[in-house]
Amino acid sequence: MANSVYEKLLQCRDAVRKVTDFVPDVALVLGSGLGAFADNIRIEKEISYSDIPGFPVSTVPGHAGKFIFGYLDDKKIVCMKGRVHFYEGYDISDVVLPARLMKMLGAKILFLTNAAGGLGDGFAAGDLMLITDHVSIFAPNPLKGANIDELGPRFPDMSEVYSRDLQDIIRGVARENGIRLQEGVYCQLTGPSFESPAEIRLLKGLGVSAVGMSTVNEAIAANHMGMKICGVSCISNLAAGISDVPLCHEEVQEAADKAAPLFTKLVTESIRRFDVSDQEENRL
Ligand code: HPA
Repeated sequence: MANSVYEKLLQCRDAVRKVTDFVPDVALVLGSGLGAFADNIRIEKEISYSDIPGFPVSTVPGHAGKFIFGYLDDKKIVCMKGRVHFYEGYDISDVVLPARLMKMLGAKILFLTNAAGGLGDGFAAGDLMLITDHVSIFAPNPLKGANIDELGPRFPDMSEVYSRDLQDIIRGVARENGIRLQEGVYCQLTGPSFESPAEIRLLKGLGVSAVGMSTVNEAIAANHMGMKICGVSCISNLAAGISDVPLCHEEVQEAADKAAPLFTKLVTESIRRFDVSDQEENRL
């Protein structure tokens, strides 16, 4: 029997291919604060998510939804301006559909960004954090259900989800540009409520440095498909109990907007340095 998740993916791919034959090398998910990134791109084509039948469309304010296909210098890139979150009520397979689709369109590298609460030692609101690993055990696994063999194996290895090569490039860009870059483990929770101080203390004990409501599900699905992945969080606030002010969405948005220029610089310069030569081809 046909797998309905895979069928939907193929349908979305075909819908995109009717509009553009652009084949991106790098896929970038723009989190809060990175909206202006698209200004750096020589745009070839934009496709609203709502024009792709079956594609999940976000309901969160500030998460306008479209794919932007174009060039960052000579790099062929697809950006997601707006993503959907599990807490909006979608099936987890729909939450990761966009990441899977971008791989099917050709992207070999996935750059994930987000706004997150910080709990690492010495973290301050406005910091950027390189994601070195993740904790996924509090969010549903996007690979549950029948394995889609066309995408990847049943039991994928997770020992290096965030590529060491890409991490080194991002560190280098931060160093050379005087951008303060924290590092640590990101944990995805389902949301939409923020965490309680007790939950944050628990997560701190687990070695977590940043918490949020996205990213890990996409990283798991992309890793399943063999993509090279990297991620950077914008620490938009200190996590509950560490900060003594109540958290709110507007504050997160505002802090992310403030950090945007440096965040944009870090992401742009890093992508410029990514090697997108096709490893498979090189081996032949
Ligand atoms: N918790 C969860 N998600 C978030 C936070 C937070 O403190 N800040 C931004 N996204």
